[in-house]
Amino acid sequence: MSLARPPGAMISCHREKTKRSNVSMQEVLNTPLSAADPAALEQCVPSAGVLDTLAIFADVLLPTVAKGVIMRRRSVMNLAERLQLDRRAIRRMQMIRSKYGTGPILLRLPGRRLAVVLDPRHVHRILQESPEPFATATPEKRAALAHFEPKNALISTGAERADRRRYNEQVLESGCAVHSLVSDFARIADTEAARLCVHARESGELNWQLFSDAWFRLVRRVVFGEAAADDHELSSVMARLRQRANWAFLAPRRPELRQDLFARIEKYLNRAEQGSLAGVMAHIHATAVTEPVQQVPQWLFAFDPAGMATFRTLALLGSHPDYARLVRSEIGAISEQLPFTRAAVLESLRLWPTTPLILRETTEPTVWEMGTLPAQTGMVIFTPFFHRDNERLLYADRFAPELWSNPDQPRDSAALVPFSEGPAICPGRNLVLLLASLMITAVLENTRLRLKRPAALSAALPLPAMLNHFNLRFELAARS
Ligand code: HEM
Repeated sequence: MSLARPPGAMISCHREKTKRSNVSMQEVLNTPLSAADPAALEQCVPSAGVLDTLAIFADVLLPTVAKGVIMRRRSVMNLAERLQLDRRAIRRMQMIRSKYGTGPILLRLPGRRLAVVLDPRHVHRILQESPEPFATATPEKRAALAHFEPKNALISTGAERADRRRYNEQVLESGCAVHSLVSDFARIADTEAARLCVHARESGELNWQLFSDAWFRLVRRVVFGEAAADDHELSSVMARLRQRANWAFLAPRRPELRQDLFARIEKYLNRAEQGSLAGVMAHIHATAVTEPVQQVPQWLFAFDPAGMATFRTLALLGSHPDYARLVRSEIGAISEQLPFTRAAVLESLRLWPTTPLILRETTEPTVWEMGTLPAQTGMVIFTPFFHRDNERLLYADRFAPELWSNPDQPRDSAALVPFSEGPAICPGRNLVLLLASLMITAVLENTRLRLKRPAALSAALPLPAMLNHFNLRFELAARS
């Protein structure tokens, strides 16, 4: 049996100790691989007891899935906010860690082997070693995403995955902080923000409905060009497919609706409008397996959480006036790097990660401090636990944009991974940060915002574990 482990990794067996109490991180880090008990490594990692499995399911997995992993359900979000379910989920994970130690631990579920990750170092290892031996294509993700993009990079494997990933990276210019179409994108953000502020003034407030209308207009123009600016039908077909995708295995597929989506996308790709991603795609080599049309639904889908994060950042700036002044200093910046604004968006994503579950599937047996995990084990990384762990992170519940001033700094003791990391890191991250920052500075150029709801969001108080974007409301004043 080949047992995958990171080169030079230090592995030890803390099985007995961790069952009794918290293991000191230093202890684990200092124990060399040579000290590992080979017999223990032959054992499977510990399983959570039945009651703990039920508690993780009820407090962590069920509410996250019920809120809508692919498309948020407003009614469940409202309920989760009222009951503070996110705080309860983080507390549950802390209790599990104090009982089981570094993990990972297996859940006792019928028909599916799932392991929950408890240690930031394991998060880094899993993400750095994707897609082999930790595959991005898990059965749950395939079941959900196949509703609208069965040949997308995220749920592909082997050579097909590598080619589709390469294509995404080239179009989205993943390695560049600033996309080469930045001047087109800045113009689009300026016009959409100005239009949004007019609509918000007419309505007497800025709310999610108005913001998301403007944001998706921006997204369609960025992805397809001016011809798609008012193609609400395209967004509505996408939304219908995403609602079904929320149900994953449980909802029957709608191949005719999916085909309709692909035909609409293809029409715009054939136009290849200059100044849009469709225009870029016309110049990027596609092989027999690339499936360019099926890479686009992921972008359209993922721009929704990008809009949520942008709107939440406006709320953070509304409640942190000192930092908002720094962001305002970037209005109309020449470089378009907008470092203060980008850091604020990243911080909004740390505080309220829009990908709460990062899932992986082991492709071979893997070795951990507490034993081994067989192939075909689903690995669950619940990001709010790692981002908001107030037992370990001094900044857990406050706005700390300074964390992102050097995004490449090693953070072994924490796992802040809103865009994942490693070879499968979100290839859209720089584009998201750029567009969000352009939209924020363009809105602030047009108006001053005062956060009306929630009134309790304040620099003086711990930030809530959940910020329901559907319910954010702002008052507008003319910029002095
Ligand atoms: C707030 C906005 C976004 C966040 C937080 C985000 C986060 C993530 C995360 C965590 C993953 C890894 C998922 C996994 O491994 O299961 C991912 C994958 C991906 N994202 Fe994003 N994303 C965002 C927006 C976007 C946008 C706008 C695009 C495209 C324009 C995009 C393109 C992709 C693609 C193509 C993948 C698959 C990468 C692969 O499997 O190699 N994302 N994203």
